[in-house]
Amino acid sequence: MGFKKDFIWGLATSAGQVEGGAADGGRGPSIWDVFSTVPGRIHGGVTPAVCCDSYHRFDRDVKNLSFVGVDSYRMSISWSRVMPDGTGRLNDAGVDYYKRCFEALNNAGIKPNVTLYHWDLPQALEEKNGWVNRDVIGWFSEYADKMFRIFGDVVPLWSTVNEPIATYVGYALGAFAPGRRNEKEGNQARHNILVAHGAAVDAFRASGAKGDIGIVIDIWKRHAIRDTEEDRRLVIDQDERNWKFYTDPVLGGSYSDYLLSHLQSEGTLMDIKDGDLPLMHRPIDFYGLNVYNRVPVSVDSRAAADFSQGGNFLNNKTEYYPKAVYDAIRLVHELYDLKIPVYITENGTYSIGEEARGADGVKEDGDRIRYLAGFLEWLEKAVDEGFDVRGYYLWSLMDNFEWTAGYNYRFGIFETDFDTLECRPKKSAYWYRDFIKKVKGQ
Ligand code: NOJ
Repeated sequence: MGFKKDFIWGLATSAGQVEGGAADGGRGPSIWDVFSTVPGRIHGGVTPAVCCDSYHRFDRDVKNLSFVGVDSYRMSISWSRVMPDGTGRLNDAGVDYYKRCFEALNNAGIKPNVTLYHWDLPQALEEKNGWVNRDVIGWFSEYADKMFRIFGDVVPLWSTVNEPIATYVGYALGAFAPGRRNEKEGNQARHNILVAHGAAVDAFRASGAKGDIGIVIDIWKRHAIRDTEEDRRLVIDQDERNWKFYTDPVLGGSYSDYLLSHLQSEGTLMDIKDGDLPLMHRPIDFYGLNVYNRVPVSVDSRAAADFSQGGNFLNNKTEYYPKAVYDAIRLVHELYDLKIPVYITENGTYSIGEEARGADGVKEDGDRIRYLAGFLEWLEKAVDEGFDVRGYYLWSLMDNFEWTAGYNYRFGIFETDFDTLECRPKKSAYWYRDFIKKVKGQ
């Protein structure tokens, strides 16, 4: 038993977090470029203008991926790099950049796994009301169609959208780009992105691109801290309003009655047109699951405070609960009778600020190794029980721009020196390399 030889081992990043080169080669700004310049939005007042500079240093990234020996690299295309206005004109320099990236990966024997939308809407489209404007469905499928036709032969794995919840955080809660705060618009934005996903799947099938297409949705299962009716109700409410908002229509074919009736009575129900539900539920080839943790909740703030004293926590104060990956895999199979393969498209943990160095100068990220080892054990258990999981992508290849946490939360198995832009393996990079070798029997 255990992981099969053809199980895909990978590392993940996204364009808006690693590329930099924000104004180079004719790229247009994204909503994160603009949002990050608003004082107080990003920790330390930093921006993604340079990040890890992968736009100029992709060879460094390929070298590091090869060092670890991964089979695949999950990355994303910056929409405003290939289409600075969001629609219409293609930017040749941007297209050439990704051509070179995919060629370099394929030459190194590393399969590109490409996400079309990882939170970085072209600012030009935000100026037309962004994800709230229903026209975004057409804008996104035009962009997707172009990418499938250009890169369909060289990219074997595609995801339409990464973590659609980011639109809600950006349009309803105001915490992410574009920083708007309107509940009903937030619901419309997250509905529109799921319809746009379906339209992109149709574009993929029509383009004749080879390969597989899916979507990436994160699951943060709520857990009742106390065994009480109130806490159990809170779990249901939060599960419904968070991850189930996305998995229900995409994997199950409809929003839940609970969600629809609550949004209706709260006056925040989005406009759902005829045909939207079947489009959101288009057959896909795989489900990309991002899973980092569970979320213990209670209506009683004292119970919640006690829990955070008594549990098993990492240095960054997040709970160490590696069974989260097993629970999430089981759950989606039970809820939706899932028949398509699953990829774990993200899993990992962060330090706050820099990790300490050992005597050999290598960063000692023991907490990360403990976290990964625990998750991989539970993943193996799921595989052994027969769940069809085909791959695992560790987040992240290197320390990068962690959205509102700036460069302060460090998720990398390579450390990034943000002055010299050099990347060096941490202990976890050696650990992951040895782990992959071992499971492949090399
Ligand atoms: C979710 C997102 O997809 C990614 O962009 C982010 O950096 C990681 N998880 C870690 O928070």
